[in-house]
Amino acid sequence: MTDPTTDRSAIDRNLPRMATLLERLGPSAGASVRVVRAPGRVNLIGEYTDVNQGWVLPAAIDLEVWIALEAWDLPEVELTSIELGETRRFRFEDLSPEHEGARPWIDYVAGTAWAMREAGLPIRGFRGVLSSTVPVGSGLSSSAAVEMATTWALADPAAVRPQPGAMALIAQRAENRYVGVQCGIMDQYASAAGQRGMALLIDTRSNEFSPVSVPADLSIVVCDTRAPRRLDGSAYNTRRTECETGARIIAEHEPTVRTLRDVDKDMLARYRHLLTETVGRRCEHIVNEDDRVLETVAALSAGDHGELGRLFAASHNSLRDLFEVSSKELDVMVEIAGTVPGVVASRMTGAGFGGCTVSLVLRGSEDELRNAVMRDYPARTGLTPAVHMVDAVDGAGPVDPREVLARL
Ligand code: GLA
Repeated sequence: MTDPTTDRSAIDRNLPRMATLLERLGPSAGASVRVVRAPGRVNLIGEYTDVNQGWVLPAAIDLEVWIALEAWDLPEVELTSIELGETRRFRFEDLSPEHEGARPWIDYVAGTAWAMREAGLPIRGFRGVLSSTVPVGSGLSSSAAVEMATTWALADPAAVRPQPGAMALIAQRAENRYVGVQCGIMDQYASAAGQRGMALLIDTRSNEFSPVSVPADLSIVVCDTRAPRRLDGSAYNTRRTECETGARIIAEHEPTVRTLRDVDKDMLARYRHLLTETVGRRCEHIVNEDDRVLETVAALSAGDHGELGRLFAASHNSLRDLFEVSSKELDVMVEIAGTVPGVVASRMTGAGFGGCTVSLVLRGSEDELRNAVMRDYPARTGLTPAVHMVDAVDGAGPVDPREVLARL
């Protein structure tokens, strides 16, 4: 298997967690133990553009899912979640995308097994223990992290493994078909292909990416509103359909248009009268947001803090007013960040309807932001926030358990 190099810093920052995982797996596991990890992600900019074949700029972050496992000869998986205190089991022969009602956490694992089999990849059953530091329901892609860790856990170590972009597509299919959320490719891709110190500029049409340096003088700070998340699959799926409707109407007059990725500002202005008010606003967000992603890449490489601030603010306002996926709590969080001198740029991140903001902060000013949020946010919302200083890290992959044991 074409393994990425073990990320030793990932081991170092998670030693106690890994010790717990190995202990819970039990001494009988012995030499055949494997450990895999996969990160959550934060999106710097480019929201909902991935469901329009546009550009996105996420980074994999050091909030992660870990699985310690021992492969067995049974065609089934038994997995214990340490945080949930729950053990679940499924058999490969029972995997089916048909279901009713909400999916339990194990279905992100089962769905990935289903999608890998559908793609013709060999998979092996295992007994494992999972631990996660990605907050659930906060828009930091805890489910994509579970899916990507699962692809590594199920893969036959002797088989040749496809590229991260291809594995991300398989995990996305698990989410689309098995779980029932029509998400784009961004979350799984970022978790699969992340690189230390880098954001990823992903072209979601060609499924190719290039790493973009996060400037050394800037930290990424994620502020969690901890507001009850109102995102259900249906609100997300409706936004997606509205965008597709806009693209389809414009394409009737412009045959080169396949998705909103192919529509520019002038073209949208020409045909806007054919769209409903709502669809017009959704399209305006996507068309401008795509441009903002590429402008952000230029501003990051030029170290232009003023421009970064402008672009993040424009993205947030557009998600609030045109795409209508922000919330009072997200708006308050961005407003508070705006009062802190060391904050360069701040906006809501991910699908919205609750969840987190992402801020680029001058190194050394992180605590100022944390203090302002801890002081002002509860007073304005009645909620207790969480603040995460995050680093961009490598994407999903195996960790050599000997490296872990050597450090314990
Ligand atoms: C969720 C989806 C992604 C993307 C974002 C919004 O995180 O999983 O594919 O569409 O929302 O940008």
